[in-house]
Amino acid sequence: MANKEIKIAYREYDNIDQLGSCEKELAQAAIEAIQGSYAPFSHFNVGAAVRLDDGEIIKGANQENVAYPSGICAERTALFYAGASRPGKAAVSIAIAASQNGTLCAKPISPCGACRQVMVQSQIKGGKPISVILIGAEKICVLDNVYDLLPFTFDSL
Ligand code: THU
Repeated sequence: MANKEIKIAYREYDNIDQLGSCEKELAQAAIEAIQGSYAPFSHFNVGAAVRLDDGEIIKGANQENVAYPSGICAERTALFYAGASRPGKAAVSIAIAASQNGTLCAKPISPCGACRQVMVQSQIKGGKPISVILIGAEKICVLDNVYDLLPFTFDSL
């Protein structure tokens, strides 16, 4: 028997002005992407912005459905749209933001398990680490690799 431990490293910031210019631009794009949210059931509006390896930013937002499981999160909307519309381009970063009643949430939004699994697959597909920027009005967390968000990932058949 061996006791093992997994540690994850991330950086914490007080606001988006403390980010580097590239990260700040992506964070602002994620906040803008909230405008595309369709969330009549949860009233939780989420935006995501994916940076591709050529610098382009692709936005997505959560899309809900009266048949609840048919809806999809902002992160998967953005990553799947990036994959479908920019084949061959690798994602290198994703920023996520959420608002309620038109106000940016104070705490950083943390992606659901399904989105983490999809982020891992995007990282495998692109062959480059994807950094993750979790935005809150009062705190921002930045991780350098999506595996940090999903230890013990299912990644082989
Ligand atoms: N949601 C996202 O879009 N991303 C997340 O990381 C967490 C949750 C959406 C799904 C649903 O439309 C709403 O937020 C409430 O769960």
